[in-house]
Amino acid sequence: MSGTVIRFPIRNSYALTRNGVSYRKGRHQMALHITNADLKAFAEKRINLKIEEVSAGRDRVRFLRKRLEDHIANNPGFSLVRMLHAGSVAKGTGLSGLNDMDVAVYVEADSFGDESLVLWMTDRLREVYGATIANDAVQSGTYCPTITFASGFNVDVVPVLDEGDADGKGYLVAKDTGERLLTSIPLHLEFIRARKSEHPGNLAQVIRYLKWWIRNQKRDDETFKFKSFMAELIVAHLSDSGVFFSDHIDALTAVFEYIVDSGLNDRIAFDDYYTASDLPAGSTAAIEIFDPVNPNNNVAVHYTNQDRQRIVARAETALDALIEAGFATTKAQAIACWQIVLGTTFKG
Ligand SMILES: Nc1ncnc2c1ncn2[C@@H]1O[C@H](COP(=O)(O)OP(=O)(O)OP(=O)(O)O)[C@@H](O)[C@H]1O
Ligand SMILES: [Mg+2]
Repeated sequence: MSGTVIRFPIRNSYALTRNGVSYRKGRHQMALHITNADLKAFAEKRINLKIEEVSAGRDRVRFLRKRLEDHIANNPGFSLVRMLHAGSVAKGTGLSGLNDMDVAVYVEADSFGDESLVLWMTDRLREVYGATIANDAVQSGTYCPTITFASGFNVDVVPVLDEGDADGKGYLVAKDTGERLLTSIPLHLEFIRARKSEHPGNLAQVIRYLKWWIRNQKRDDETFKFKSFMAELIVAHLSDSGVFFSDHIDALTAVFEYIVDSGLNDRIAFDDYYTASDLPAGSTAAIEIFDPVNPNNNVAVHYTNQDRQRIVARAETALDALIEAGFATTKAQAIACWQIVLGTTFKG
């Protein structure tokens, strides 16, 4: 990285100088060719999940829930506690072209023996859908089966061993090892809603810009990994660090600055539901971003050093493009810079 990091007490908490120029100061002294209004228009047209898409997805999930409920009611032995929407649709951070939804299925711990919870859930889904979908349309992953419909739309059906806890704490159980992972879908929703309410309309939008950027990077490089949950937690961390979100260009710049500046080497954790002393003392993980609900769950545990470097390198390219956009002398130049971040469908 060629710039030096300096901290300004005003506006967002990070600012870089590159080649001796404070670009943020420069940007705000110049007439911008691409403004927050341009970004907003693009977000509404291309990035944000549309109401129609949500309702189509919700109808699918409602149907699934109904079938699963009936099936479980007609087959004693399984005990369903509750089902709830998890994931981006529930959190209001979904992107257009929605092709995935997440449902958490809380089941009573005593309703089955040593059977793998994921395989149990997989079998139940195959039974409830019977002949209406191909058998291989339900595939089991580490923590959940996924149903893929003919249209390509898929639903992750995440079984959670209920702990009878009012906060919705329960265990995900890894398919192959049986290892249990404590988490809480309702508390994850509460966690993100708390940050959203501090920055109404803005924090979720900045998360969507970041996720849109991630989607574009994945199209470019299929080895690029950057899980949505991690993206949200990074933005939540910046919110907790005092970054403002009302100026979306500044906020998105601050996100890339943070990634470049920290190299994602800094531990990210939250004290909503536990204290810092509950976190593990040390770790060899390349990235540490802890589940806000469980201090022993590093959400980035499967990321290698190479995965981390890929994220940082691409964030640096995005940051450079945003800096350049701030100094562009023509609109065409500014659009070209923004296209590096938002893709070539961005036309200003
Ligand atoms: N490693 C994890 N540990 C605990 N909970 C997780 C983990 N990963 C995901 N979750 C839960 O699953 C939810 C969905 O997260 P995920 O990253 O799969 O996608 P999403 O928010 O639905 O975004 P999108 O579908 O748009 O990519 C999270 O909000 C969280 O509640
Ligand atoms: Mg999802």
